[in-house]
Amino acid sequence: MTSEEIRKKFLEFFRVREHTVVPSSSLIPDDPSVLLTTAGMQQFKRYFTGELDAKKDFGSLNTASIQKCFRTSDIDEVGDASHLTFFEMLGNFSFGGYFKEKAIEYGYEFITKDLGIAPDRISVSVFKGDSSTGSTSSLQAGSGQVIPRDDESFGIWHEKIGISKNKIGENGREDNFWGPTGSEGPCGPTSEIYVDGLEVWNLVFNEYYQKPDKTLEKLETLGVDTGMGLERLAMVVQNVPTIFETDLFQPLIQFLPANLSERMRRILTDHMRGIAFLISDGVWPSNKEAGYILRRLIRRLVTHLHLAGDTVDQTQIFVEVINLYGSFYPELNLNKERILEVFKEERARFKFTLQVGLKELNRVTSLDAKSAFKLYESYGLPYEILKELGGDKAIKLTREAFDEEFSKHKIISRMGAVKKFGGHGLILNTGELKAGDEAELKKVTRLHTATHLLHRALRQVLGDDVHQMGSDITTERTRFDFSFNRKMTPEELKKVEVIVNEKVKEELPVKFEEMTKEEAEKTGALHFFKEKYPEKVKVYYVGDSLKTAWSKEFCGGPHVTHTGEIGKIRILKEEAVGAGVRRLRATVE
Ligand code: ALA
Repeated sequence: MTSEEIRKKFLEFFRVREHTVVPSSSLIPDDPSVLLTTAGMQQFKRYFTGELDAKKDFGSLNTASIQKCFRTSDIDEVGDASHLTFFEMLGNFSFGGYFKEKAIEYGYEFITKDLGIAPDRISVSVFKGDSSTGSTSSLQAGSGQVIPRDDESFGIWHEKIGISKNKIGENGREDNFWGPTGSEGPCGPTSEIYVDGLEVWNLVFNEYYQKPDKTLEKLETLGVDTGMGLERLAMVVQNVPTIFETDLFQPLIQFLPANLSERMRRILTDHMRGIAFLISDGVWPSNKEAGYILRRLIRRLVTHLHLAGDTVDQTQIFVEVINLYGSFYPELNLNKERILEVFKEERARFKFTLQVGLKELNRVTSLDAKSAFKLYESYGLPYEILKELGGDKAIKLTREAFDEEFSKHKIISRMGAVKKFGGHGLILNTGELKAGDEAELKKVTRLHTATHLLHRALRQVLGDDVHQMGSDITTERTRFDFSFNRKMTPEELKKVEVIVNEKVKEELPVKFEEMTKEEAEKTGALHFFKEKYPEKVKVYYVGDSLKTAWSKEFCGGPHVTHTGEIGKIRILKEEAVGAGVRRLRATVE
């Protein structure tokens, strides 16, 4: 059975059982508390809580979907038989329509009848309840909140379905309890279905809502949320030893050079899919959040293909991905050009420093978190590349220690010390701004202040729903991403341009004050809500005083001292980069 047939059978199975089939949502979720979509239930969160009405929106209390998912938590596992970053999740959901009994029956029927998997290959697990000795899980209910054993699911599996007791495992919160995605959300005990010992399907019975302080409240409506990885399912259905031997990967893995190790070919195959789908959904390479994840995937791919002799046409790789998945995910075809362009641009940017970086990596005698981070900072070599290529030198290097260096640095750079890098080109690198010499520094500084003016003017013209989603400034231009759900009209663009140039003409002073984070928030200065700021921050403002300033932002600088230094600001382009995200490019003359 091909994976195409599995997808079809799954959706059809639930469609005829009164589920509305809902398309996958984007990998960039609506929910701002999570970076990427990691589960099918994410787009349905508000139906579980009763905020939205499924009957009204879907014409049914039950839905089914095949959701594009991306999990960074598994990135170090990729390369074994069954872990991935990007994967497709088959799921059925109910918002008060049915509960444990039907969910379990459906699951078992689909696996054994529709997919024809022999019952003796199947085992299951249920939630054993909180033990009196307390849970070791990171998900702790508030004090005194003991969750009982899931007797009901055990009973259904054993008595109704006929699974023998020795094939029903019982686990605690680590394995059989679904915690919410993000900081809060629906959750509950789970029951898992295994084929030949491999977990393929997770059935979640949403009974609680976990609040940000981790206490659980009973949900008014009981819900079902299930998730089954298509790749693992294809592996057991197609009877192959790893996911990479399924038809979902074979055409891709065969495309990679044979002189790469088996493990590396698997990793790169995983990354090829991840890159194509992330770019297609509007992620751009950058040094933070989802953009940083994408950047790491691209750089790992480019590095290992480089070491393997650069024998394959790297653009063709993505054409293969699009050919393989484009019929089920038509957005890949629509965004083909962007996928190829973004990849090429990032590869070109990275290749410039890659060879020097690899030489430098050869030269160092040992790699700890600090020296590894330095290599990342100067040459763009991410952790996984350093760990893989560092060999014995990197034996003590851990992801935790590296990530800690990374976040220390992020705070410092956001708060903007102009850093000098020992002879390797850059004199400034804040993530957002980069400059190689004094002339470049001047240019990006003007563009940086121009970016603040644009941000403010966009809010004035389009409303306060506009929030900064990211920015990237080179000596050529500023690129500013912001939340807004439609194309701007030419009149609106003109208005923004007129406003910012008026502010330039007014020669307003640009100054900053340093204060505690709480004080800074009270000034109403704009900032990223998701970002972790240090206790003390700078607020840059444009105007005579902080109180009366026209623009205020948390920022590390650097900025010009008066708006007049910016020169004429010209908007070059406005376009979409993802669902609800627009991108503006502007330059200064
Ligand atoms: N939300 C559950 C999972 O992702 C089904 O495993």
